[in-house]
Amino acid sequence: MYYPEELIEEIRMKNDIVDVVSGYVKLQKKGASYFGLCPFHNEKSPSFSVSGAKQMYYCFGCGAGGNVFTFLMNYENYTFGEAVKFLAKRAGVALPEAEYSAEMKQKETHRARLLEANKEAAKYFYYQLRSEQGTAGYRYLAGRQLTEETMKKFGLGFAGKNGRDLVRYMKQKGFEDALLQEAGLAGFDERSGMHDKFWNRVMFPIQDINHRVIGFGGRVMGDGTPKYLNSPETPVFDKSRNLYGLNFARTARAGNIILCEGYMDVISLHQAGFTQAVASLGTAFTSGQASLLKRYTDKVLLSYDSDGAGVKAALRAIGILKEAGLTGKVIDMRPYKDPDEFIKNLGREAYQERIDNAENSFFFEIRMAERDYDLEDPESKTAFYKEIARRLCNFEIEVERENYLEAVADKYHIGFENLRKLVNTYAAQTGLAKPAERPKSGQAKKAGPEENSKRVQRMLLTWVTDEPELYKKVRNFIDASDFTDGLYRKVAERLFADIEAGNYNPAGIISMFEEEEEQREAAALFNTKVEAVETKQEREKAFHDILYAVKKNSYEYYSGRLGSDVQALNQVIAGKKALEELGKTHISLD
Ligand code: UTP
Ligand code: MN
Repeated sequence: MYYPEELIEEIRMKNDIVDVVSGYVKLQKKGASYFGLCPFHNEKSPSFSVSGAKQMYYCFGCGAGGNVFTFLMNYENYTFGEAVKFLAKRAGVALPEAEYSAEMKQKETHRARLLEANKEAAKYFYYQLRSEQGTAGYRYLAGRQLTEETMKKFGLGFAGKNGRDLVRYMKQKGFEDALLQEAGLAGFDERSGMHDKFWNRVMFPIQDINHRVIGFGGRVMGDGTPKYLNSPETPVFDKSRNLYGLNFARTARAGNIILCEGYMDVISLHQAGFTQAVASLGTAFTSGQASLLKRYTDKVLLSYDSDGAGVKAALRAIGILKEAGLTGKVIDMRPYKDPDEFIKNLGREAYQERIDNAENSFFFEIRMAERDYDLEDPESKTAFYKEIARRLCNFEIEVERENYLEAVADKYHIGFENLRKLVNTYAAQTGLAKPAERPKSGQAKKAGPEENSKRVQRMLLTWVTDEPELYKKVRNFIDASDFTDGLYRKVAERLFADIEAGNYNPAGIISMFEEEEEQREAAALFNTKVEAVETKQEREKAFHDILYAVKKNSYEYYSGRLGSDVQALNQVIAGKKALEELGKTHISLD
């Protein structure tokens, strides 16, 4: 839903950030800002600041930052639209109704109808479980040591033996046959007519992150087949983009998410207090699910079955997590089959210990690969070492590769230098000797020249935000085009234009960006620490140095683009002059 910018601004201004954040974090006034313990990372002394003047927050520890919308997107995992809605309601601002095309409207109505059907069916199953017909189901779940509270939390239910009850009930509630079939709740054939899809099963409603029922898994009681019957994909049920339990796990704030294979595993883990557990939906883990997880964590712990199929699935999942830029670790479930059995037998403390000792996914992969080799046989042993070397070459960052090399050499008692030689040989053979510099998201990108030039750009923007009257001095030398990063340039353009117009409003600038990541980056622009300087002279020198560095970077940037960019020549000529000028000019900060 698109809202006009003025409306977004009105909502933002009517929700004072100090008030809103105070509802979540204990804040204390310190100077011009408020400080508290950062809710986005673990810390003992407060580095989380909220500024009433800037209407922004920023954590000097972990770099989380933004305006009041960003805060809710981060804390509540809201989308931008959800945060806008929430704050509009909080401030009593009316939002316009969405305007859809006729086709979209129809699609929406249909989706809503499917969701209603699922909700009604979930209610029905829920009551069945507690009725006389559901005794067997209730006994089954209780026998698996689920408490009443847990059954309630997950909305567990029961589909009776009769095989027509749900259809009858749903028809009574006004749902048409076609819809029930599309939702995967009913089937039709000549012999038996309309009939329930799920019967004599305990029912696990599958919810999306907003707690709406989008499908079901039904488990047979005892040993029938299939063990689990799942709803088909429907317009509201996309199995590759939802995860069982994520509606609870997304606010667990455990610092990690536990990924398991089964519904029962998730439920057992939650009951034991591990509310960060999720599972895929009767299908293998997908890259869509990995990107979904990435919105909530960068650390995924795999708690897959310890049998052959589980190991294979875990190895596959590790690859998918890596692709998505997530680090995976593997929880050892042995001697039990899965987390459900593990918890039942050894309890929560023991599981927590396994979490703490979860194995780095690289070592897990090596350990699993080792099974294919006979280490008593020299030839096979050499092949195993070569395999290790091959896998080490997958680390593109040298330090990382060296660290793993050292660790794995140590673990398998291979001479460090010998293994290094193997790696080098392998790399030379396959053209990997000079690992490709392919920057990937989420990988360390510290302190290169690029990062340095971005840092001075940030410092300048922060300085001007803190003291907008300085813009008068800046504008003689610098304009927005001197900010060489796209996002920085956008922010500078807007900030400078706002100041020119006497309309200084940094928190509003953040709302230009819909993505949380961009909001966070924009907030960092206004909150970069400038080294503490004492005297006026030092301040002036620091300011001059920053201006000079920003201009120089811009000059070099455009010089490098001469020939490919028409605008570059003008920039370069003007930039050269400005640099010379700036070199001679004393800028007074009075
Ligand atoms: P498991 O066979 O490991 O089941 O399948 P489980 O979760 O341990 O179940 P219990 O403890 O025996 O009751 C793991 C997951 O694979 C999917 C389900 O999502 C299940 O939770 N599955 C399994 C199916 O979709 N269909 C099946 O027939 C079996
Ligand atoms: Mn199980």
